[in-house]
Amino acid sequence: MFSRDELAYAMKSQKKWERLAVRFAAKEAVWKALGVGGLGLKDISIKRSGNGMPFVDLKELGLPKNRKASLSLSHSDNYAVAYCLVYRE
Ligand SMILES: CC(C)(COP(=O)(O)OP(=O)(O)OC[C@H]1O[C@@H](n2cnc3c(N)ncnc32)[C@H](O)[C@@H]1OP(=O)(O)O)[C@@H](O)C(=O)NCCC(=O)NCCS
Repeated sequence: MFSRDELAYAMKSQKKWERLAVRFAAKEAVWKALGVGGLGLKDISIKRSGNGMPFVDLKELGLPKNRKASLSLSHSDNYAVAYCLVYRE
């Protein structure tokens, strides 16, 4: 369910399971916030900007250009939580 980049980023870290867990949570959060059918977890890719901020490119999913998503991810030893806010610009 993860992209090559997601796996590479997680696996190089000592927090690999946290990073995979939070990306799983993020994919689900995006999926739920969008509320559109026909999307699988692997279709939704969690990317990182230069400063480490996570984002998802909704254009890749074929959604209109004015549709945007904001993500917030957080993880610790036992918990991973992701919030996704989808809005129209
Ligand atoms: C970004 C920061 C807040 C992350 O906090 P943390 O305690 O290391 O870890 P958390 O589990 O809460 O968050 C980690 C996630 O934050 C996200 N993140 C990283 N840099 C980010 C940024 N610049 N903007 C938004 N989110 C960011 C990533 O998704 C990261 O997950 P990843 O490591 O799997 O890629 C912290 O590293 C940092 O830079 N602090 C600087 C001080 C500051 O501005 N704090 C704000 C407090 S409100």
